[in-house]
Amino acid sequence: MEHRVLMADPNYFDVEYVINPHMAGHVGGVDRDLARAQWSQVKATYEDLGFPVAVIDPVPGLPDLVFTANQSFPGRLPDGRAAAVRSHMHAPQRRPEVDVVLEWHAARGTSIFDLADEPLAFEGMGDAMWVPGRRQILGGHGFRSEPGALTALAQRFEADLIAVRLIDPRWYHLDTCLQLLDAERALIVREAFDAPSLALLERTFPTLVDVPTDEALRLACNGHSPDGRHFIVQSGCPVTADRVRDLGLDVIEVDTSEFLKSGGSVFCMKLMLP
Ligand code: ARG
Repeated sequence: MEHRVLMADPNYFDVEYVINPHMAGHVGGVDRDLARAQWSQVKATYEDLGFPVAVIDPVPGLPDLVFTANQSFPGRLPDGRAAAVRSHMHAPQRRPEVDVVLEWHAARGTSIFDLADEPLAFEGMGDAMWVPGRRQILGGHGFRSEPGALTALAQRFEADLIAVRLIDPRWYHLDTCLQLLDAERALIVREAFDAPSLALLERTFPTLVDVPTDEALRLACNGHSPDGRHFIVQSGCPVTADRVRDLGLDVIEVDTSEFLKSGGSVFCMKLMLP
């Protein structure tokens, strides 16, 4: 069975430090049993849609390891080889997660790359995503990843880069305020971007679907469509859900409330493999 999605067991998931505004007030406040139930539901949802999930063992002291979107950026090199670029987490607390995930990639024969000799802050698919069907990467900087890291990433994969700047700390990762449904359509939180970036996104993606602020704070934009037909999203985001249904997708609601306390939801709880 070829795994298509990577998750990490939530055994040690908690909020132990505050590195984004969502975490404030939640230190020590995670219900671990509820978190495991919610995590299992997300995993089962991907499996039911036909995406087998590999699971990394939990590591004590690494509460954010569960956000497997962040420690690496996978893709295929122009010659078709599977590759993963190593992240360099902005927060020192999260840096030890990276080796755990990169060891997993290496064990399955994936080539591993560093972006530069001196580490540039880069948080994997939190801030960079492949535009479906194109040799193009959409990258966000402003809070976690550095612009130079995005440039180096695109060079490594010989891909075009669309780089945008994030300006609101509540949407500190690109995957909290922009979610691609396909090469033409995306969900967006417009207030998260500076004006030139917003104009660039409007030129690039003909259909931009607005996520209202209250739902954006529940990370509706961190929902995910693994196949262009289904959209997995935090429950209690009815406006977003209706707008996605209007585009012809089936909406699958899951509750990730414990992970929202850490600033993460569906998209960042997993890594899609090429
Ligand atoms: N607590 C984590 C952090 O702030 C959450 C990461 C969520 N990941 C994401 N791709 N948005 O780093």
